[in-house]
Amino acid sequence: MADVEGLKREAGITACGFVRSGMSLGLGTGSTVRYTIIEIGRMISEDGIDVVGVPTSESTRELAESLGIPLIPISEVNRLDLTIDGADEFDPEFSLIKGGGGALTREKEVAMISDSMIVVADDRKKVPVLGEFDLPIEVSPNKWKEVSEAISQSSGIESTLRGGEHSPYVTDNDGFILDCKFGPTITEPSILEAQLLSIDGVVQVGLFVGLCDAVVMATDSGVETIVNPVGRLH
Ligand code: 5RP
Repeated sequence: MADVEGLKREAGITACGFVRSGMSLGLGTGSTVRYTIIEIGRMISEDGIDVVGVPTSESTRELAESLGIPLIPISEVNRLDLTIDGADEFDPEFSLIKGGGGALTREKEVAMISDSMIVVADDRKKVPVLGEFDLPIEVSPNKWKEVSEAISQSSGIESTLRGGEHSPYVTDNDGFILDCKFGPTITEPSILEAQLLSIDGVVQVGLFVGLCDAVVMATDSGVETIVNPVGRLH
């Protein structure tokens, strides 16, 4: 069994092969893309590349700042060249579940204004059908019970408030997260995404459809880059 951390590192660094000097970059959140961000810091300090980053979370902002990566807030950009981010699951159509780290709202904002998006992941994240990983949904704190009930009534799906009712996890946007137990049933992620977004109190849904252009995937035997045949890098 290969060292998963080592392979994540390799995937994170390999994805930097898509980074060019002059680019504006969306910087994702998580333990895999962390290696990408560290490598971008190295490319700036040692190779002299000139890039600017938009962080998708406070933890990524702190990491990038510590590495000397020039940053701009998302409020000041309307287009990025490339986003590199992790994922909790990806399916054969390159649809994603994201939000395991709670940063889904900013991650989706950044991905949506990027010319392309590359996911860094290990092969445990590759699934035939999305949903084994509980789907994260960011909700308004004062609406989480209503949203949970609405999901239960409309689809019979149970959801859990991340962190629990007494000490809920709070996102960088001051939202709460509901983790929804769909199981591996999400065959039409864009339809489900639209249904969930229409529920009052839902801020964002951790389904990313039509955004991922390639996955740089760490496996026991090395790193594989899978390019979406209908994506923007093809
Ligand atoms: C954060 C995310 C992460 O990208 C996702 O959870 C994957 O993280 P990791 O690389 O640590 O497994 O969506 O909101």
